[in-house]
Amino acid sequence: MRWASAGRHDEGDGQVLHDVEAVVLVGGQGTRLRPLTLSAPKPMLPTAGVPFLAHLLSRIRAAGVRRVVLGTSYLAETFEKHFGDGAALGLDLTYVVEDEPLGTGGGIRNVAGHLTADDVLVFNGDVLCGTDLRAVVATHRDTQADVTLHLVRVPDPRAYGCVPTDPDGRVLEFLEKTPDPPTDQINAGCYVFRRAVIDAIPAGRAVSVERETFPGLLAAGSRISGHVDDAYWRDMGTPADLVQGSADLVRGIAPSDALPGPTGDALRLAGAEVAADAHVAGGTVVGVDAQVGTGARVVGSMLFDGAVVGAGATIENSVVGAGARVGAGASVVDTVVGDRAVVGEACELRGGMRIWPDVVLPAGGVRFSPDV
Ligand code: GTP
Repeated sequence: MRWASAGRHDEGDGQVLHDVEAVVLVGGQGTRLRPLTLSAPKPMLPTAGVPFLAHLLSRIRAAGVRRVVLGTSYLAETFEKHFGDGAALGLDLTYVVEDEPLGTGGGIRNVAGHLTADDVLVFNGDVLCGTDLRAVVATHRDTQADVTLHLVRVPDPRAYGCVPTDPDGRVLEFLEKTPDPPTDQINAGCYVFRRAVIDAIPAGRAVSVERETFPGLLAAGSRISGHVDDAYWRDMGTPADLVQGSADLVRGIAPSDALPGPTGDALRLAGAEVAADAHVAGGTVVGVDAQVGTGARVVGSMLFDGAVVGAGATIENSVVGAGARVGAGASVVDTVVGDRAVVGEACELRGGMRIWPDVVLPAGGVRFSPDV
């Protein structure tokens, strides 16, 4: 069980890293999470009761970093509107907007003028991770690297590009996805950059760190280190990962200091109404003023604010958007129901279905599934 730490940010809770700043890249369109990302950028999607980014920022603060620059582009204004100057989180936040999306490398280069430290922690803004960030910085300094990548070992690396290292932790190459990867180490989307490396990224055009900057540095003989561990790690890029990551936060499997209340098997936010005989479990979040009707079963799912689940309905590993309604007896499995959409009584949705906002599916036991 954890409580939010907002509002009690004394400086005695660990050593402050005054000489490290952080950059978080939050400018992507999040196309794989549509329709949820039509109205909010991926890092602002409600996850275990707060915008996903709040969890990452809580990890950055816990590591002792206080200055964070956000590289924004898509729906840029939503970040500052919510987080302001960062004081409520115990952070000093700066927002930099790209008029045209510049990619991961271009996004880092674009914030260079706002950085003052020589060591810069850079994060993809959609990664949920339990790694020891101070240890990543220590590896960077111990190996006198130009760039250090957090590399996480995963059980099945075939879905990712992998990054082999030598016994001294030096990165050897960046490999594309392959059915037979030579290592289980993958790029975890968290780096430490020496400031001079950021300044050397070409300005004013799109650059990918993964495809251009890192391979270019290797070819030029720069020192790229890997900090390898088995920490909790999840890229929240797809609906299945978003739902799983949220459930892991609620159940305390993924670490965060930003949870808004007591958790355990489920998180109920203010005004949530759950019928006494409803079963709500598996890390489910019941959003503000959301309702779960009598006899309903909601497992491992995200009910956004004002969502309504009818009597006897089943929701599994799914997202029910803000103000959306699932009718009595309906079954929603591995599905995203967009904001304000209506799933009629006794409908059956499964297999990665995505219902767009405001769509109304008629009652009557209709089965919607990509495989029928
Ligand atoms: P998809 O469209 O679903 O692939 O998601 P995405 O747009 O977020 O792309 P991806 O998951 O590859 O991005 C990884 C991280 O980099 C995310 O945190 C993005 O917000 C961020 N990002 C991607 N492109 C840009 C960009 O052009 N500028 C900035 N500032 N950040 C970016």
